[in-house]
Amino acid sequence: MINKDCERIVVSEKEIAEAVERIGKQINTDYAGEEITFISILNGSYPFTADILRKIDLDCTVDFMQVSSYGSGTGSSGTLNIKRDISADIRGKHVILLEDILDTGFTLSNLVKYLAEKGPADIKICTFIDKPARRREEISADYYGFLFDEDLFLVGYGLDYNQKYRNLPYVAVLKPEIYTKTTD
Ligand code: XMP
Ligand code: MG
Repeated sequence: MINKDCERIVVSEKEIAEAVERIGKQINTDYAGEEITFISILNGSYPFTADILRKIDLDCTVDFMQVSSYGSGTGSSGTLNIKRDISADIRGKHVILLEDILDTGFTLSNLVKYLAEKGPADIKICTFIDKPARRREEISADYYGFLFDEDLFLVGYGLDYNQKYRNLPYVAVLKPEIYTKTTD
């Protein structure tokens, strides 16, 4: 049953499980014999983080960052504001960033620059959803779950609209009246 505020499901639970399995296998192969430091970008990437981590057969740790974007609407800001920083020392480590959506790329390109200063061995990007058509920075995902060329605002599986709908086990598009109802 689809949530009453949603128009249609664009990624089903089954498709999510298959993508997570595929990415997990790929990471296990690519990093065989290595240790990985995952950095999960809160809030949106928490279900993706939990699912990916359970597919990893290698030594790994996970740390969390929270990066704010301004307002509560559907846009993205060009300025990086770190609300919560990592506590682990990533010097010399293989870092994989876990993100919900790679959209314009402002968030991740700023974040990669910031983390690179801490001297990791390398930084790769693993995003649940990639929207390459919307990119405004030169950055690409090393691992992605799903590509979306259409500019749809998505909710579910960690993705929110005004902090709601993160709990949906699928990814969906909201009904237009849900957008137009809010003030910002
Ligand atoms: P940029 O543009 O910096 O943005 O790559 C990435 C961040 O923007 C948010 N974002 C979305 N959040 N549904 C969401 O819930 C969407 O369709 C969407 N598009 C972008 C997201 O938080 C991501 O971290
Ligand atoms: Mg969000």
